[in-house]
Amino acid sequence: MDGNGRWASARGLPRAVGHERGVEALRKTVEAAQELGLSYLTVFSFSTENWHRPVSEVNALFGLLKAYVKRDLGQLAREGVRIRVLGTRDGLPKDVQALVDQAEERTKDNTKFNLCIAFNYGGREEIMRAARQLAIAIKIGSVDPSTLDEDVFATYLDTAGIPDPDLVIRTSGESRLSNFLIWQSAYSELIFMDVLWPDFRGEHLQQAIEEFQGRERRFGGLATGSA
Ligand code: FPP
Repeated sequence: MDGNGRWASARGLPRAVGHERGVEALRKTVEAAQELGLSYLTVFSFSTENWHRPVSEVNALFGLLKAYVKRDLGQLAREGVRIRVLGTRDGLPKDVQALVDQAEERTKDNTKFNLCIAFNYGGREEIMRAARQLAIAIKIGSVDPSTLDEDVFATYLDTAGIPDPDLVIRTSGESRLSNFLIWQSAYSELIFMDVLWPDFRGEHLQQAIEEFQGRERRFGGLATGSA
């Protein structure tokens, strides 16, 4: 969800206002994703690197996550949305952790749509944390290293049980993944859009999906019809 800061600066507004408008864009996108028949949507909301931002901005982002959960959880739960928060809970304020736990617990049996919020998330940190857990499991003898493969490793990631993304969209014209789902996006289609996140709407999502549908996915194999 990149470009909130630039959206605000272009209007002479504080960056936090860009993030507020970003939440509005998120609401519209969650709605559009459901209407378009998607099953999973993962948004990158706060990276492990975002701690380097001014304390006021970090606090504004925590405040927005809390406000979003408080305001939208009831409706999302009723709509059958399952919420999962990816990333480490370490370092998050206790009240944020409590709300995140509440959102996951209240929606854990929902199956209609999956909203995954990457918050305090970094792909390398996630992989490191998984490796540490796995090393402990091997050390205590509950995992035999000879049985390890990619599928087993993936069960230690925050995304265990969640399919790899078919499509990754980055807004704001930047062309990099910035540590987002770096294990899971190995074969994802990447689409970089020149729209700032607060301006993102269902039509942009639809446009990206149409572009995705025109792509040929080979997963390292050959094109269909090749000799
Ligand atoms: C990137 O734009 C955006 C973020 C770092 C935060 C995104 C967070 C939200 C939209 C709201 C909080 C989360 C939830 C789930 C309610 P940027 O600040 O890097 O923009 P810039 O590149 O233009 O400076």
